[in-house]
Amino acid sequence: MTEKDEAIMGRRLFLKHAAALALAGISFGQRCAWGQANGDASLRERAARKGLIYGSAVSYGPLTRDTGLAASFVRECGMLVPESELKWETLRPSPDKFDFTQGDFMLDFAKKNNILLRGHTLVWHQALPKWFGTVVNSQNAEQVLRNHITTVVGHYAGKMHSWDVVNEAIATWEKQPDGMRNSPWYKLLGPKYIDIAFNAAAATDPNAMLVLNMDHLEHDVKGDDQGRSATLKLLRRLKSSKTPVHALGIESHLGMDGEMFSAEVFRTFLRDVAELGLKIMITELDVTDIIFSQNINKRDRMVANRYEEFLSAALEEKAVIGVLTWGLSDKYTWLSKYRPRDDKAAVRPLPLDENFNRKPAWNAIARAFDNAPKR
Ligand code: XIL
Repeated sequence: MTEKDEAIMGRRLFLKHAAALALAGISFGQRCAWGQANGDASLRERAARKGLIYGSAVSYGPLTRDTGLAASFVRECGMLVPESELKWETLRPSPDKFDFTQGDFMLDFAKKNNILLRGHTLVWHQALPKWFGTVVNSQNAEQVLRNHITTVVGHYAGKMHSWDVVNEAIATWEKQPDGMRNSPWYKLLGPKYIDIAFNAAAATDPNAMLVLNMDHLEHDVKGDDQGRSATLKLLRRLKSSKTPVHALGIESHLGMDGEMFSAEVFRTFLRDVAELGLKIMITELDVTDIIFSQNINKRDRMVANRYEEFLSAALEEKAVIGVLTWGLSDKYTWLSKYRPRDDKAAVRPLPLDENFNRKPAWNAIARAFDNAPKR
């Protein structure tokens, strides 16, 4: 399934629920108590009080050009994840070259500001360089993969809090054995590409937390239910073969329909993961607002409710150690390209508005941290 197909599928899923949304949205909005978080403390501080980490993805261009973004980032975030700078496409201009310029800028920025860094991502079906298809074959794939991982993880060894070693390995709708995504890596190496990747990363940086990062696990819909089962099966297999996986990353790109979420179903899944001895990170949280009201106040409130409901459920599980949003300010969000609104109004999926002011979503996250049990 291509990136475009996925975008279309996601949109269809949302549209299917559009009718329910109008009703559910209003009643859901009324169900949630609304209010400002107490005090002025940043998300970083509020998370830290509970033994949690809060951070965000950020891109090189905006971070280098926009001082407002940089200042907000330093104020609010305890962890930085480069949005694209450590993907193959950026790191690998040619088969024998590595370009760490942008990643190193991120590392430097994080270090200077006492912010943790996490790596995203070593193995993914997307963002592969153009040369990949002509150069990599089933004979050399394992060696190419090992070389990439040992070079990149080696470059940042001792400096990374965690690595998303494998990203989005499951796609149950592709009807493959065990729900595995038929990614280029799967085609070349079969399911063992996952074990190869984790073992190579662990051997190169024994201190980094190694994460299996997954999408489509959050909602109470059939597809996500199958995704949760397939993910647990994969994690159990990795644990029983002593593959060094330390945490599950749950992307958490949330849809808008509160009725599509069940706190109980989600918490049960988190418990099942925790019982395998794994930590959990919420790695790419945002709330798409393509069907919410044109009225910005109403829309912001709906988005905030989704944040609060989701995080309240997630943070009850003590194996959850961190929350990252996929961007900090609505000025820079991948959703403006991937989930644009039909009315062409700017999307508002993140904690800060386009002028870096704290939105209801910020307050919702702050309150969820304030109410979370201590780790
Ligand atoms: C997205 C970036 O945000 C975009 O800017 C880029 O064009 C495509 O990738 N799941 C992931 C992330 O794991 O790497 C994706 O990031 C969003 C979905």
